[in-house]
Amino acid sequence: MLAKLNDEQERFLAALQGVADEETLYQLQVQYVGKKGSITGLSKKLGKLTVDERKAFGAELNRVKKAVQAALEARKQELQEAARLRDLARVEDLTMPAKRSPQGSLHPIRIATRALVDTFRRMGFDLAEGPHVEHVNFNFDALNFQPDHPARDMQDTFVIDDRRGSDDLVLRTHTSPVQIRTMARLRRLGQRPPVRIIAPGTVFRCDDDATHSPMFHQIEGLFVDRGVTMADLKATMIQFTAAFFGRSLGIRLRPSYFPFVEPGAELDMQCPFCERARGTTCSVCKGTAWIELGGSGMVHPAVLEAVGIDPEEYSGWAFGFGIDRMAMLMYQIPDLRQMFDGDVRFLRGFSS
Ligand code: DAH
Repeated sequence: MLAKLNDEQERFLAALQGVADEETLYQLQVQYVGKKGSITGLSKKLGKLTVDERKAFGAELNRVKKAVQAALEARKQELQEAARLRDLARVEDLTMPAKRSPQGSLHPIRIATRALVDTFRRMGFDLAEGPHVEHVNFNFDALNFQPDHPARDMQDTFVIDDRRGSDDLVLRTHTSPVQIRTMARLRRLGQRPPVRIIAPGTVFRCDDDATHSPMFHQIEGLFVDRGVTMADLKATMIQFTAAFFGRSLGIRLRPSYFPFVEPGAELDMQCPFCERARGTTCSVCKGTAWIELGGSGMVHPAVLEAVGIDPEEYSGWAFGFGIDRMAMLMYQIPDLRQMFDGDVRFLRGFSS
C-alpha cells in the first residue's frame, strides 16, 4: 500500500510538470485528490489494515495529500503569474483609430409614427396595439362587415394557410381590429368607457403598384364615452393639427361608407404646405388646398353591441389614417416604393 501511495505521488508530480494551463491543472486535481481520485481511493482501504498499519499508513497518506495540494496551489500561482506577465507584455497601439460600428437610424415611417403617437398621447389617448396575424372575426365580422363584403375577397386579403384548411386567420387589412380588441378587453376586465386610444401599425393587402404596397401603415383612433358626437371628432382633429403642425388647420368631412361607422366620412385636412408654394401650384396638395387623411365616422351601434357596450348609453368616433403618405408628405418623398426598398442610401437621409 505504501509503495502504491508513493507511486501515485510520483506519477502526480511527473504529470504536474507538463501542466500549462489552469484547466489541465484542475483535471489533474480531480484525477488524484478529487472525490474519485486515485489517492483519495487509497484512503478508503484504511479500514482493512491492522491498528498499527493504519496509524503508519494514515500519517503517510495525510503527508502525501498535503504535499499534492501544496504542489497544486503552487503551480496555480505560477500559471496565474505567467498569464499576468503575458498580459502586461502585450503591446497595444493606442493611436490606432477605433473601429466604427455602423449606426442605424430611424425609418421615416417610424419617425412619423412616433410623432403622431406622441401628439395624441399628449391629448390623452393611450397607445394600443394588435397582432399582424388577425382573426377574421376581429378583422371583419365584429366590425360589421357582412359575409359577402368585397373586402373579404381573397383578392384583397392575405389569408393564412394554417394547413388545416380553415381560412379564419388573415394578415390584418387595417388597424380597425384594434378597436375591437380594446373594447373587448374592457369588457373582460369588467370596465366601462371612456375608451381613448391611438393604435398605429403595419397592415397588409394584395396590392402592388407605384402608389400601393402590399405592406403599409395605418394609425387608428377611437374615442367612446357618453354623449360623444361628430363635433368631438372634428374638434379633436383641429386640435391635433395645431399640436402637430404648429397651427390649427381646417378639417373637412366628406360623406363616405365604411361598415363599422355610421355616418362615415373621408376626413381631409387643409394643406399645411401650400404657403411654401405661394404663387405656384402646391405640389403636395396639387393645388386643391386639401389633403386626404383617411376614413372616419361614428362607431356603428352594431360594433358597440358586438363588444357588449350599450349603444343607447354610449357613442364614439373612430378614424383610420395612412401613415406612409403622411411620411411622404413630411419628407417630400416622391415614390412610395422607395420607402420599402431597404436601400440604405435612401434611409441615410433621415434623422429623428
Ligand atoms: N379601416 C379603414 C380602412 O382601412 C379606415 C377607417 C375608416 C378607419 C373609417 C376608421 C373609420 O376607424 O372610422 O380602409
